[in-house]
Amino acid sequence: MSRTPVTITITGAGGQIGYATMFRIASGAMLGQDQPVRLRLLEIPQGMRGAEGAALELTDCAFPLLEGVELSDDPAVGFEGANIAMLIGSRPRTAGMERGDLLAANGAIFGPQGRAIGERAADDVRVIVVGNPANTNALIAQQHAPDLPAERFTALTRLDHNRAVGLLAAEVGASVKGVDGITIWGNHSATQYPDLSHAVVAAQPALDAVDREWARGAYIDRVAKRGAEIIEVRGGSSVASAANAAIDHVRDWVLGTGDRRTSAAVVSRGEYGVPEGLISSFPVRSSGGDWKIVEGLEVDEFSRGRIDASVAELVAERDAVRELGLI
Ligand code: NAD
Ligand code: LMR
Repeated sequence: MSRTPVTITITGAGGQIGYATMFRIASGAMLGQDQPVRLRLLEIPQGMRGAEGAALELTDCAFPLLEGVELSDDPAVGFEGANIAMLIGSRPRTAGMERGDLLAANGAIFGPQGRAIGERAADDVRVIVVGNPANTNALIAQQHAPDLPAERFTALTRLDHNRAVGLLAAEVGASVKGVDGITIWGNHSATQYPDLSHAVVAAQPALDAVDREWARGAYIDRVAKRGAEIIEVRGGSSVASAANAAIDHVRDWVLGTGDRRTSAAVVSRGEYGVPEGLISSFPVRSSGGDWKIVEGLEVDEFSRGRIDASVAELVAERDAVRELGLI
């Protein structure tokens, strides 16, 4: 029996991460080999040629699961009927730009996009924000779609999570398959806290397998500043790994994680002392199409301090966008 296609809107489709994402989605890597998909590529006028070129290449791949590709520079058209919205396009920080300028520029993008999602997308729409500052952009979009459950708006910290898994496995000389229980807490920024307190690697507690000073010092810095390291070494920001993480996030959200834990920035209902309404990274599992925050993990004094510091940054960003009238 053929299944109804899922409509996926990708913003920033003419950019790098959009390009690295759409071919994998169309090949079935995100929703499975039995799920047809329709792609909606949303850009701004300056980015349309890039998106058009990518659409030509999608045709040339002849993906059996791809039922159609539509392009638009109008959010009201781009989000029509979307079941999944991947908000990748954003306004990057450029020389001389203050944090308030960056938040204001992105507010002008994510406010209207959130409104269009609320008005046009399918009732079951799930939103993942990749464009930075991802957590606060997700909050802005969520606040403009008051008729949708807030839980449908999430931000990407899976890239940080995957980095944390890869770097721990490399330190121990173990397979990534043997790593579980890592948490990224807080903001997708240098204040994030990659936490090994409850992690296992190669069938032993991670904190027994590695030097504790490393786990609570150099490791945290390396994960939290990995984006900057990639920019320095590669000469450009993460692309394939960011696309891969966005695909992992949506796949796990829709198809479930089983017992495995991962990290995602989801709306807080006050868990672990994170103020209600913030979109902050937590330990999560997904089942039945919903992320569920893993509760009851013990938080020691060191972890408490690191979580509080990153959450304080999210509070400051939320207050700044409130002052700018963006939410
Ligand atoms: P890019 O500059 O190559 O592409 C961005 C695209 O977005 C451009 O084509 C641009 O025209 C488009 N765009 C801008 N405003 C838009 C709008 N209002 N609607 C639709 N499209 C719009 O950038 P990239 O390398 O693809 O990165 C995209 C974003 O992802 C950046 O903000 C980057 O900082 C962020 N990022 C996030 C993570 C994460 O883990 N959360 C990781 C890597 C990169
Ligand atoms: C990353 O984590 O790789 C990006 O968020 C870095 C960036 O500033 O684009």
